[in-house]
Amino acid sequence: RMKTNYKLIIIGGGLVGLSTAYNLVTNYNGYSTIKGEDILVLEKNKFFNDKGSSAGSTRQFRYQYTEKYMTELVIQSIPDWQKLQQFTTNNLIEHVGSLWFGDPKLPTTEGGINPAEKTMDKTGVPYSNLNKTQIENWYQFKNLPDDYVGFYQKEGGAINLPETLKTFYSQASIAGVQMLENTPVLDIKKENGKYTIQTGEHEFTTEKILVSTGAYVNDITKYFDKQIKLDIWDMVSAYFEKTNPNIDYPTWFAFQQPNDENSNLYYGFPEMDWKYKNYIRVAPDYPFAIYDSPSERKKPTSEDFKGTEEWVKNHMSDLDSNAKFKSTCMLGLPKNKNKLLYLDFITDDKNVVVQTGGWAAKFAPTFGKICSQLLINGHTDYNISHFKIESEDLK
Ligand code: BEZ
Repeated sequence: RMKTNYKLIIIGGGLVGLSTAYNLVTNYNGYSTIKGEDILVLEKNKFFNDKGSSAGSTRQFRYQYTEKYMTELVIQSIPDWQKLQQFTTNNLIEHVGSLWFGDPKLPTTEGGINPAEKTMDKTGVPYSNLNKTQIENWYQFKNLPDDYVGFYQKEGGAINLPETLKTFYSQASIAGVQMLENTPVLDIKKENGKYTIQTGEHEFTTEKILVSTGAYVNDITKYFDKQIKLDIWDMVSAYFEKTNPNIDYPTWFAFQQPNDENSNLYYGFPEMDWKYKNYIRVAPDYPFAIYDSPSERKKPTSEDFKGTEEWVKNHMSDLDSNAKFKSTCMLGLPKNKNKLLYLDFITDDKNVVVQTGGWAAKFAPTFGKICSQLLINGHTDYNISHFKIESEDLK
């Protein structure tokens, strides 16, 4: 029989939920840990599923941001990645480099080239400037407009997402954290200073709750009478076969003027040894659908891959431009475009923390640490002032 009383219950067993479980049983920044057996992770699907924000096999790791506080947070995450790396022999980040190129004056959802260079200058992150000819000759892109420029940041790279998830999961499990999958939360009530969480089969009580359900966050925050201001993006991605096995790409992002249909932004990865030998991943940075609620979710059609196939055909050498191994990823983004993500208490109750929104994979080990500090100590060593939650009261 399962234990029913916990100190802390994590709702959502994706990257941030599992990282928090791992951090809680690890000695994070000198703070005390809590016992694994006092922690429960509830996942409504199976662990390691592809139904939410932790879908897929790769994420980009990069230092460059328009916002200095983001670059500083990436720098702060390095010791946390190094510590996590000790628990697996597979590399969690392949530092293959990060190439950004395109129209230098373009401000975009990912920040743009010039503002990112300014931040790297201020924070001492090294990079090399590139012109169009260098980008084409050294990285085998083709037919780029003459005014395109870019930079290469050699410590950027590709995160092995499944390995990162598994490492959090196994370290938390070894320490005794309870993991329960296929267990959606159906109700949460506060009684006698504690929370009661109802699932189909179980009733659990807990002092503290982390809500880390990504795009599904409002399915849970409604029990706290809050609706977070979120747009839900559904994004496609595909793998493209190399026609020349000797070429490779770094991780890259192309900044271009929007067209009539979409933002015209694309990004990609090298061939990674943990997924699809002789294929590389290329994806649009724009959604094929935007929802208010994940219940509206639909499937992409072949039309939704056309822009990416065109980009590959026109601008990348030595690839078959037919999209193969297609996938989707659904994530929440703050409606307020000046905000990148949310990480904070959801009400003035310091026993409930919510993280959602944004492109958070590169902060995975650190975000779990921040959530742990907030829940156990009521405050964190990190600057999260930019991640305050914007929500509406439901009552
Ligand atoms: C990022 O590094 O945040 C990112 C990279 C590619 C697509 C979207 C986001």
